[in-house]
Amino acid sequence: MHYYIITGASRGLGKALAENLLCQPGTSIIGVSRHATIEHERYRHQPLDLSDIPAVENNLHKVFPRWTDAAGITLINNAGVLGDIGYLGEQPNEHFNFVFDVNVVAPAMLMNTFLSTYRHLAVPRTVLNISSGAAQRPVDGWSAYCASKAALESLSQTAQKEQELRGSGVRIRSLAPGVLDTAMQAHIRTAGARHFSEAARFEALHTEGRLATPQAVAEQIVAWLQRPVAGAEAVALRLTDIKP
Ligand SMILES: NC(=O)c1ccc[n+]([C@@H]2O[C@H](COP(=O)([O-])OP(=O)(O)OC[C@H]3O[C@@H](n4cnc5c(N)ncnc54)[C@H](OP(=O)(O)O)[C@@H]3O)[C@@H](O)[C@H]2O)c1
Repeated sequence: MHYYIITGASRGLGKALAENLLCQPGTSIIGVSRHATIEHERYRHQPLDLSDIPAVENNLHKVFPRWTDAAGITLINNAGVLGDIGYLGEQPNEHFNFVFDVNVVAPAMLMNTFLSTYRHLAVPRTVLNISSGAAQRPVDGWSAYCASKAALESLSQTAQKEQELRGSGVRIRSLAPGVLDTAMQAHIRTAGARHFSEAARFEALHTEGRLATPQAVAEQIVAWLQRPVAGAEAVALRLTDIKP
């Protein structure tokens, strides 16, 4: 059995990834999110609020069981939040805790526990952290999101270097999935130009039908994850880097 742990599997990209994987025999998924929306014999929902760090700590043992029949184990840190859109200096301080807890602190704890729990296994082990183009460029109104995705990308690069130095064979990647037609984009379209100068551009992406479906992107990600690694591959990738 290839086990997948996917955060944010209740909707959007995470749900599309889980549904795609469940179409294949030999996969089993633990989905971590606040809401349960998938019912399948090979799917288990682990309710967890990733902004509640003590709860994350207390539930890690349920997310990473000690499987004895694993042919492979993959962690996909997909859950992410933008938080309220607005400029630095015009936000409550709690905003930064919330966005960093969900986008960086919880994924770091999950990676740390994954690497430690499965360190003695010889089977293929992969961590995929879902990043964003915003990790690489400043987007006004999204400061916490941009900074948190940059931090997640750096965490991925550092962890991959460490695993190479340990010779563990664990593959760690960060992937920016492009712009997707999900609830996160609907949230982006609620912001006015005063708090987000790109509001009109993002509105146009939607009205002109230029947002990718989560299903199409999930299909591309799953196919790439399951292909053997071809030559040297960067740790921080964009969707365009993983074309077949
Ligand atoms: N959509 C885009 O255009 C786009 C572009 C670039 C990158 N991304 C990245 O892609 C990933 C998926 O985004 P999406 O568009 O699919 O987002 P989405 O539709 O808003 O879904 C977010 C998922 O994260 C979970 N989540 C949010 N807050 C959580 C919390 N406190 N605790 C546990 N789970 C939580 C949600 O589950 P519950 O509500 O059930 O908890 C949901 O399943 C994110 O990392 C995002 O940053 C998206």
